[in-house]
Amino acid sequence: MNFDLQGRVAVVTGGASGIGLAVSRAAADQDMAVAVLDNNAQAVEAATAELQDRGFKCLGLVVDVTESESVARAVADVEASLGSIDALVACAGISQNTPVVDMSDEEWDRLVAVNQRGVFTVAREIGRRMVARGSGAMVVIGSTDTIGGHINHAAYAATKHAVAGFVQSAAIEWGRAGVRINVVAPGAVDTPLLRTKFDDETAQRVLLYNVPMGRLSRPAEQANASLFLLSDAASYVTGTTLCVDGGLTTGFFYNDQVH
Ligand code: NAI
Repeated sequence: MNFDLQGRVAVVTGGASGIGLAVSRAAADQDMAVAVLDNNAQAVEAATAELQDRGFKCLGLVVDVTESESVARAVADVEASLGSIDALVACAGISQNTPVVDMSDEEWDRLVAVNQRGVFTVAREIGRRMVARGSGAMVVIGSTDTIGGHINHAAYAATKHAVAGFVQSAAIEWGRAGVRINVVAPGAVDTPLLRTKFDDETAQRVLLYNVPMGRLSRPAEQANASLFLLSDAASYVTGTTLCVDGGLTTGFFYNDQVH
């Protein structure tokens, strides 16, 4: 079995925080060259400095994934500086906490722009190059909201369902060109994004009633799944969604305290 990713070039969007940062670190630990693309300049600087200080090959670029031109420039810069891109993990994303009846057009559009179009812009730009070269692998970070609904997260869930349709379609278009693309669907992961809406007490309630494994995911556990899908160990896996959710999507009623 070949998990070896050494010497390959990875792009990680949203790579400066949370799951993306864990992917950047894990990819570097596998001796991949890593390009961290994120719109948070301070976080990009910190992530890049950390990886470079540890002796890894890393390029940090401040990029807004909603802007096609800045994505195209960044992808060209990565190839000029690190070489041909072998792998993409698209983690950049935002969330929300608004009931449907209170949601504005602007909030809906922002969610779609970042979580949906922001996946398309990057996958298209890198996909063109991978298809031309005849190899490459991508992972798009979806969510358990790729599988089902979520109270006060209708726009978020709509975008996360959408990326699965995008990934399935791109997998069909790119399969014969040797380019694979899959979704990793995390459950509740302990990151800055989760902490914007979960205090410890809320987290405990969610875990008690919904997560068979009874704990939050560590970001590194999401990174492990992404690296597996990028590696040749997953050479016949494309167009699928891998839930990394501690069992969250396995059933309906999770705890005998509710019966
Ligand atoms: P995070 O907030 O820690 O990291 C997200 C990163 O994306 C940040 O560094 C942010 O600056 C960057 N970003 C946001 N908008 C961007 C844009 N327009 N252009 C470039 N970069 C941008 O969040 P976390 O938790 O690591 O989330 C990463 C992905 O995982 C997201 O797609 C999220 O929807 C998904 N996810 C997270 C879960 C969780 O429990 N934390 C659960 C399921 C999915």
